[in-house]
Amino acid sequence: MRVSVIGCGHLGAPHAVAMAEIGHEVIGVESDPGRCEALGNGIAPFFEEGFEDLLVRHTASGRLRFTTDLREAADFADLHFIAVGTPLRADGHGYDMTQVIEAVRSLVPLLNRPATIVGRSTVMVGTVERLQKIIDADARVANVELVWNPEFLREGHAVRDSLLPDRIVAGLTSRQAREAVEEVYAPILDHGVGLILTDPPTAEVIKSAANAFLTTKISFINAIAEVCEYVGADVNMVAHAIGVDRRIGDGGMRPGIGAGPKDVTDFTHRVGELGARNAHGFLTAVDSINADRIPAAIRLIERAHGGPIDGRTIAFLGTAFKAGTSDVRDSPALRLAERLAERGATPVIYDPEAIAATRELHPEFGYADTAEQAITDADLVVLATEWPEFTADPELPATTADLVRHRVLVDVRNTVEPGPWLAAGWEVWQLGRRPQRP
Ligand SMILES: NC(=O)c1ccc[n+]([C@@H]2O[C@H](COP(=O)([O-])OP(=O)(O)OC[C@H]3O[C@@H](n4cnc5c(N)ncnc54)[C@H](O)[C@@H]3O)[C@@H](O)[C@H]2O)c1
Repeated sequence: MRVSVIGCGHLGAPHAVAMAEIGHEVIGVESDPGRCEALGNGIAPFFEEGFEDLLVRHTASGRLRFTTDLREAADFADLHFIAVGTPLRADGHGYDMTQVIEAVRSLVPLLNRPATIVGRSTVMVGTVERLQKIIDADARVANVELVWNPEFLREGHAVRDSLLPDRIVAGLTSRQAREAVEEVYAPILDHGVGLILTDPPTAEVIKSAANAFLTTKISFINAIAEVCEYVGADVNMVAHAIGVDRRIGDGGMRPGIGAGPKDVTDFTHRVGELGARNAHGFLTAVDSINADRIPAAIRLIERAHGGPIDGRTIAFLGTAFKAGTSDVRDSPALRLAERLAERGATPVIYDPEAIAATRELHPEFGYADTAEQAITDADLVVLATEWPEFTADPELPATTADLVRHRVLVDVRNTVEPGPWLAAGWEVWQLGRRPQRP
């Protein structure tokens, strides 16, 4: 099938390579000329696990190309994915929908034969209705169909999740749209992935509800971590023991600086606008616990250090939003580093992939080429992104034990197994757990 992907950022570019990988002829439309040129030359403009290999393979095979010219895509493709950005508005009141509206408004008049527009961006509930009105008003041909097909991929696993998602949700209203969706995803559906067909408003709510539920789980266990700190209980054990119950499940139940603000703030604002009073009250509580996770991490760091951290050097391991990506937008880890710097500490950053993006935003921070170098002469170590090289390298605790001034590890993701660190003489501090000492 001939498809276009409009907007080739962290979501769109991996989606474009995945579509080429399953056999489609793909044209990516990217309005940033530098990003477009890099992609066309097979160079990944950001790190995402497994992405560059497929980009190289499919730009070389000719099955995937990139352009800044939307008209080229309108002429070429029968199905157009919309994957442009929807950043959170500066006032926090919902997503900025400008890119989505503009992409559809520009595309529709260029279409010269029946086509299916498939929205993948994460949008505010009610957006599809707005887009349908644009199509109704501006389409020059009949049968321009709109499908809402939210993306649930986990950043850091974007390629794998695009090729083998947990499910595909498509909100649509016509047979043509259904057939187009079934055709474009046929190779994935053949692998047993479920296709959930519904109407567009339900598809929009499914995406927002999924994000809100995941944030609720993290916020719930963060709230329980607070309780554990009061009574000297162990939140990791609580999460494990309640998660054994399949009605609860332990996935996504690790305390820490976890979820980004985008995941719940927009929906909270929107349900308030709609007047859904109980949903608004509930999500407001979740949002506020989510917002407190950085202050909670700072309190833990100060307790571990035994006082204020101004003037201290902090080895800061990980600024990426998640392991597996170089993205630092809305990254709780980066927010934490910023708050520590505001308190007078000097974070010395090491991240396997996100140093360049971090340095661009914060040239004033210290930087290191390796974890060992970051830890050298630090007053304490903060682990903020769960890269395996921090959490699964059995040598790291021992090789760095004599480099640091105080062997204090503060793990604000509750992700390390303390044993090797304790054996190498470190104190390990995690949220909702008693400090563990060698
Ligand atoms: N990043 C993720 O892991 C992820 C996961 C699920 C959903 N989403 C959603 O996907 C959407 C995109 O997110 P992202 O992280 O890829 O954003 P991004 O900012 O990385 O990418 C958006 C890209 O679209 C380009 N663009 C904007 N307008 C354009 C236009 N009219 N024509 C062509 N290109 C245009 C921008 O230059 C940019 O490169 C958002 O709604 C986001 O919430 C993202």
